[in-house]
Amino acid sequence: MSGIRDLVRTKDVDTVIQQNEDGSDGGHHARLSKRLTAWDLMGFGIGIVIGTGIFTLTGVEAKNHAGPAVVISFAIAGFVSLLAALCYAELAAAVPTAGSSYTYAYTTIGEVFAWIIAWDLILEFALGAAVVSRGWSGYLQDAFDLPTSVFGETSSINLGAVAIALVLGIVAAVGIRESKLVTNALVVIKVSICVFVIVAGVFFVKAANYKPFVPPSQTPEEKTSGLTQPLWQYVSGVDPAAYGFAGVLVAAAVVFFAYSGFEAVANLGEETKDPAKDMPRGLIGTLAICTVLYLLVCLVITGMVKYTDLSEGAPISNAFDRVGMSWAGVLIGIAAVAGLSSVILVDIVAMGRIGFALCRDGLLPPSVGKVHERFHTPLRITLATTAVVCLLAAFVKLKTLAEMVSIGTLFAFVVVSIAVAVLRRTKPRMERPFRTPQVPLLPIVSALCCVGLMASLAVETWLRFLAWLVVGLVVYGFYGRKHSRLATGERPVPGVEDAQVR
Ligand code: ALA
Repeated sequence: MSGIRDLVRTKDVDTVIQQNEDGSDGGHHARLSKRLTAWDLMGFGIGIVIGTGIFTLTGVEAKNHAGPAVVISFAIAGFVSLLAALCYAELAAAVPTAGSSYTYAYTTIGEVFAWIIAWDLILEFALGAAVVSRGWSGYLQDAFDLPTSVFGETSSINLGAVAIALVLGIVAAVGIRESKLVTNALVVIKVSICVFVIVAGVFFVKAANYKPFVPPSQTPEEKTSGLTQPLWQYVSGVDPAAYGFAGVLVAAAVVFFAYSGFEAVANLGEETKDPAKDMPRGLIGTLAICTVLYLLVCLVITGMVKYTDLSEGAPISNAFDRVGMSWAGVLIGIAAVAGLSSVILVDIVAMGRIGFALCRDGLLPPSVGKVHERFHTPLRITLATTAVVCLLAAFVKLKTLAEMVSIGTLFAFVVVSIAVAVLRRTKPRMERPFRTPQVPLLPIVSALCCVGLMASLAVETWLRFLAWLVVGLVVYGFYGRKHSRLATGERPVPGVEDAQVR
């Protein structure tokens, strides 16, 4: 029995808030000033969310699974994200600390769930950085006509992706952060590209390119083994098919990647002026703006170029090349390259923070999360992560990596949705500045929708994800469970506890 009790032991919310104020949470030096408004949160959110999902996956998924109906896929993924955002908003406002869903889980449902979420976030950020690095490489190749043998999706070793991941990993390791000015400039650049694509591209839309809007279901051309089919097809024994409504759902699960990252807005609860109002506005506003931009960009791109002819490496700039506006293609390429860099940097920095938090809490060995004296960063974790990101970015296809990020993010959303419903029962008196509407209905629908999208992902993606979770549980069983600071009685961890991280 005590073993099970260990798994669900929780951290005290006040202790967590105190840690933040001391600066020992890994992200802050002193009490954080409450200065962020809903607009600041939206700026931050858009900066993280808009990336390879819209710039690259649009082409990949329209071409291979959904045709012009990829716009429906984006709408489905946006709706599912919105439901999850409403659940995140309740927890973010109630437990307004840095540390993301890991901290919510740790203070509410228990250590083993917190560990699983953190393990899952590691997957999301490390693989996310690799996906965006490959997207970056594709756009650089297209803009400057670089050799496809080492840049973009057809390369056998994507050296372009490795180079950007390595440079930004080193930047993160030595503690250089984007200034607010650069972050804001990149947000403006990314939103401007989307608006430009919509406004300039609409003149080149041909109605014929939308026909058929949902391409009829057909037997896939490439020989698919059982493991490449969506899980639900595999389980139900339906013949593998490309396109059709099933294809739209598969694409929805993959392009879900395009929305991932918005939940990082929830980390800023403690710095937000009025979390009760600003947090839901920031989260939902980020999603609403991204969804509208995504849908319009999809409509325009699939209207400009027949879905079968879309580029898989740089579909947006390539669409402008095809209609004779090469200068716009190059401009979009350069802007995309700049905009995507910030997403890679944020992902690598976030990985360091999560690793640091796990070491601080005793769930990973303290030496791993040791903070470098001069740079004030968790140097070892950051460099180790960078090495893994480089390897993945070099060899693994963008779509394969994106599917892994999607399944990991969807899984975290399932846990958070369930946590909201469960906590209303188990901790009814917890102060909730923002309350998710229609509990338990909305969290249940949210969790079911996430599971539905997960079921549209390939069997091999499930197997990889399950393997990752099993490894995580083994690490927890052999190390974290015994060394957790909750188990050892909150002893300070030398070199980690007393350090401050940039
Ligand atoms: N949502 C981010 C992207 O699309 C991670 O690149």
